[in-house]
Amino acid sequence: MSVIILGIESSCDDTSAAIIKDGVLISNVVANQSVHESYGGVVPELASRAHQQNIVPVVHEAMKRANVTKEMISAVAFTRGPGLMGSLLVGVSFAKGFARSLNIPLIDVNHLTGHVLAHFLKEPDEILQQPKFPFLCLLVSGGNSQIILVESYSDMTVLGQTIDDAAGEAIDKCSKVMGLGYPGGPIIDRLARNGNPKAFKFNKPNIPDFDYSFSGLKTSFLYSLRSWIKDDPNFIENNKNDLAASLEATVVDILMDKLRKAAKKHNIKEIAVAGGVSANNGLRNSFREHAQKYGWNIYIPKFSYTTDNAAMIAINGYFKYLDNDFCSISLPAYSRVVL
Ligand code: KG4
Repeated sequence: MSVIILGIESSCDDTSAAIIKDGVLISNVVANQSVHESYGGVVPELASRAHQQNIVPVVHEAMKRANVTKEMISAVAFTRGPGLMGSLLVGVSFAKGFARSLNIPLIDVNHLTGHVLAHFLKEPDEILQQPKFPFLCLLVSGGNSQIILVESYSDMTVLGQTIDDAAGEAIDKCSKVMGLGYPGGPIIDRLARNGNPKAFKFNKPNIPDFDYSFSGLKTSFLYSLRSWIKDDPNFIENNKNDLAASLEATVVDILMDKLRKAAKKHNIKEIAVAGGVSANNGLRNSFREHAQKYGWNIYIPKFSYTTDNAAMIAINGYFKYLDNDFCSISLPAYSRVVL
């Protein structure tokens, strides 16, 4: 009999449901929330309300597209955390009620391991290049910047992580300071393509081991802008592309510097990238350059699996299902969890 997993993701501002059948992704539906755009960031209360409106139609659509009825589902996998508590609660409560009503197992998934395991998402008839264990994964999103040593589907160790802001958060904030829209990542990416990455210099952190820090860069960007604007009120308008390109290049340099050191120390050449910021073209190009220069085998996910989605939760749930790794209905959501 087929193993069919319903995955549910609601950790931030995307409501998503997906169906995995015998390890193959059959459907993945994501409802984005445009309500946050005018606020320049995710408003938690509005996110929870939108999840409430979206969750039933999104799950329904995922099942419909997969041609799956609820009686066919083997287990429900849900994002337990980390994320916004009000947002998580919508998905967690829905998953618990759904699984209880069908008397099927529940599987809790860490959002971060979900991002890493997005590399194992296989669509029907796709021949997938998967990373081989052990591999390193650079996980870069709006809330996290981590280097993870992945030894199996369930054995992951964080080698380093941000001690303050995440890379995506820093890019979003700098973009806000420039008066650009939200989220800033894709806008900076677009502008950077026509800019000079060496036009401006911003502070890089000096912290030990494989940890990251992005709050200093954010401050350096803000203070530099302020002083330039004093001399030229149209400074941002006149230098938008160069500012974006220089900011992007600095973030990419910081990320790749530590990743290169971790790869060298652990003698690993299987290197993956995951999370929303992995959509960034500057980062993707740097990965390709590193592959050439250092002989890395690199794994870059499809754009649709870089940002939050339930497909990655469902595939993580599938691997846990095969291990009989289920959770109790009383398991709470966590806004902060470690791997
Ligand atoms: O993984 P994700 O969708 O959500 C979190 O779990 O945080 O990541 C969202 C982050 C945002 O900071 C967004 O600006 C950034 O990913 N992002 C990008 C790009 N696309 C999304 N950053 C740089 N370049 C992009 N093309």
